[in-house]
Amino acid sequence: MPARRTSIHGEWSSKLAFILAATGSAVGLGNIWRFPYVAGESGGGAFVLVYLACVLTIGLPVMIAEILIGRRGRQSPINTMRTLAVEEGHSPAWQHVGLLGMAAGFIILSFYSVIAGWTLAYMVRTAAGVLQGVTAEGARSIFADLVGDPEKLLAWHTIFMVMTIIVVSRGVQSGLEQATKFLMPALFVLLVAMVGYAMNTGQFQHALRYLFMPDFGKITTDVVLNAMGQAFFSLSLGMGAIMIYGSYLSHNASIVRTAVVIVSMDTLVALLAGLAIFPLVFQYQLEPTAGAGLIFQTLPIAFGQMPGGIWVGTAFFVLLLFAAWTSAISLLEPAVTWLVENHGMNRVKATAYTGIAAWGLGILSILSLNAWSDVKVFGKGFLDLFDYLSSNVMLPIGGFLICTFAAWLMSRESTRSELGLPDGFGYRLWRFLVQFVSPVAIVLVFLNKIGLFGGS
Ligand code: PFF
Repeated sequence: MPARRTSIHGEWSSKLAFILAATGSAVGLGNIWRFPYVAGESGGGAFVLVYLACVLTIGLPVMIAEILIGRRGRQSPINTMRTLAVEEGHSPAWQHVGLLGMAAGFIILSFYSVIAGWTLAYMVRTAAGVLQGVTAEGARSIFADLVGDPEKLLAWHTIFMVMTIIVVSRGVQSGLEQATKFLMPALFVLLVAMVGYAMNTGQFQHALRYLFMPDFGKITTDVVLNAMGQAFFSLSLGMGAIMIYGSYLSHNASIVRTAVVIVSMDTLVALLAGLAIFPLVFQYQLEPTAGAGLIFQTLPIAFGQMPGGIWVGTAFFVLLLFAAWTSAISLLEPAVTWLVENHGMNRVKATAYTGIAAWGLGILSILSLNAWSDVKVFGKGFLDLFDYLSSNVMLPIGGFLICTFAAWLMSRESTRSELGLPDGFGYRLWRFLVQFVSPVAIVLVFLNKIGLFGGS
């Protein structure tokens, strides 16, 4: 076995720090903004069921593979993939998996920052009391005003990107770790409180039925693709974010256990977000299919009506902002480490360049919401296109390559010793999943989408 590597970028101070940071990467807008609206657009329970199946059969095994590859390679995803491929006697071309991931992270960050900007705008509006007593109609028009104004969107997008650049430029321990320690637990507590509120005031039974009683007739090709894309997006998989975080993990931590914790927390937060939002959607006769504006048109009504709503609402958007922040930093990290390793840049410069480039690309997403709303590429505006392309196409392809690499190209000894598992049931189950179940599932979903099985 080769000598153990150390990362030139640093290491987490403890196993808990890794769990918090990786959970911070996973839990973000994907759970609270994206999950409810994609579920609403994809038929509720049918989507949730397929989503949970994807998390178990694809998400968890791929996460274990990604952490193990990251920790063994201890470099940026591109260099890690190349080093491990060569070490295992294969082509260095595997480094392109890292490149694909970097591109996906870059595209995601560009629009992620725009949506995080909405969160910032709502934080300020809530704190200023703008939402007090707001009706469903009022909430809709506040949202329409915001997304219709490119200058406002640009200002919030810029602020968020600067915040992200600042944290990433400070490096692993001082930057990334500190941000996650207190904020994740606080978000969780507040979300539980919101579910409590929705339980008492909204149509909770209706929401439960909507989310958990699947109408199997609604499981279409698109629902399955959306669910798989959501699983990759929500768990931060397929682009090297979890890989680079794994590269800062110490050798004695158990990868399987930490992966189970991260996946469970992420799933729980998504389900809680659904349970906080849908009772209110039904109570106020909003459309579950409202799309990307769903939470921004739903929750403000609750904050506007509940006693102390200014405080609860402001706290909610502050915490959502932090959740988005801890995810955005992981989107930037793979590219930054690569620039540092291969181009000799210092971290601050590398972060600034990447962040500014993603910021520029984000402007297309902003304009697609207003001035350029007629511009369509493949039938979609830029925001939708970037979202679809990254989540539903690039991340699953990245995930497919990552699990194929871990399962078929790395030797049993390498993966087993990195996971620290005996050759027993647990290890064999994981290997079976990454060898057959996850890659085959990903390919089938794609083939089905392309219409090979008569799908649309
Ligand atoms: N998982 C994040 C979320 O749910 O908001 C988004 C994300 C972060 C996706 C990092 C991909 C990634 F690599």
